[in-house]
Amino acid sequence: MQFFSCVFHNRIIQSAIMQKFIDKAVKTHRLEHSELLALLTDDSCDAAVCAAADQVRRQYVGNDVHLRGLIEFSNICRNNCLYCGIRKDNAKVRRYRLEPDELVETARKAAAIGFKTIVMQSGEDMYYTAARLCPVIEQIKKFGVAVTLSIGERPYADYKAFREAGADRYLMRIETTDKELYRRLDPDMDWQHRLDCLLMIRELGYELGSGIMVGLPNQTPESIADDLLFLQKLDVDMAGIGPFIPHPDTPLKDAGGGTLPLALKTMALMRLLLPDINIPATTAMESLHPRGRILALQAGANVVMPNVTEGEYRRLYELYPGKICVNDTPAHCRSCIGLKIASIGRGIAADCGFHKKAPRS
Ligand code: 5AD
Ligand code: FES
Repeated sequence: MQFFSCVFHNRIIQSAIMQKFIDKAVKTHRLEHSELLALLTDDSCDAAVCAAADQVRRQYVGNDVHLRGLIEFSNICRNNCLYCGIRKDNAKVRRYRLEPDELVETARKAAAIGFKTIVMQSGEDMYYTAARLCPVIEQIKKFGVAVTLSIGERPYADYKAFREAGADRYLMRIETTDKELYRRLDPDMDWQHRLDCLLMIRELGYELGSGIMVGLPNQTPESIADDLLFLQKLDVDMAGIGPFIPHPDTPLKDAGGGTLPLALKTMALMRLLLPDINIPATTAMESLHPRGRILALQAGANVVMPNVTEGEYRRLYELYPGKICVNDTPAHCRSCIGLKIASIGRGIAADCGFHKKAPRS
């Protein structure tokens, strides 16, 4: 009896400590590494962290959800990231690439069904030189949308040309700040170079998006706490956090993968640290749970990126297994997600959804 009452007592003390950290983060948007680590490793505070992030989200960015139409325009990639389904050495992938006119046409249709941002994502496909991609960006800008690029590491001259052609934002996850883990997972790549690219992008006046995966093999809670502080210091305009999901045709096929609760909590902590940024409810979360994106929208997220790629390309752009909506049309996804968002009492934003910085203390 004595033993049980002791355990119970310790739990109460522990939960009071966690609540103190959460309250501090809600007020100051600052947490020490040790405090983040404590929150990340105590499952009993998951609901409280997510509820606090939901409150901060409402206070800083409101109830409207920003939709971004995602075009996955090429699954050709020069890299070999161990976790990624479209890595160069995966010979099972049927490769495709939308030609410039198809890409513009897909964007035109997405704008016509109401998307105010078009996200152009691909593997690192060097067919798309600046000379080929800039005219595409210029034409898509004429549809009155914001343009986001997510096409990986490029030379400065390319980033500059894309920006001058009208690209507004750039997304590139740092994936992990654990350099040793990065070296093992992205064998042909260099962590410092990726950071240099992010800094170039920022310097060119893009809105900068980055992010991480959680649940990578040998990733520690310490390193996730580092990642969160890194993204806070980088002062990103957008942070995407998703669970790693092992792909059967990659070297990491037998790895454990990330869980939805850890991904949600990490995302919620990001909201507490960077209260006014854009945070997507990531598609990978919905691949783990049929309500994954809705749960994310109720734990700090304010953005959803429905897929507007057409036909079989949706299935062929398979970074991880269990990708949602592969047999749907862009119009179906648009109305489906609209209904889901309405069902939790939230609206859809009518503007392009640029990051509006709140005054920082
Ligand atoms: N599981 C989850 N996310 C993945 N990504 C790539 N492969 C996987 C996977 N197996 C993420 C990376 C990349 C983004 C486009 O998709 O974080 O930056
Ligand atoms: Fe594609 Fe629901 S978002 S079917």
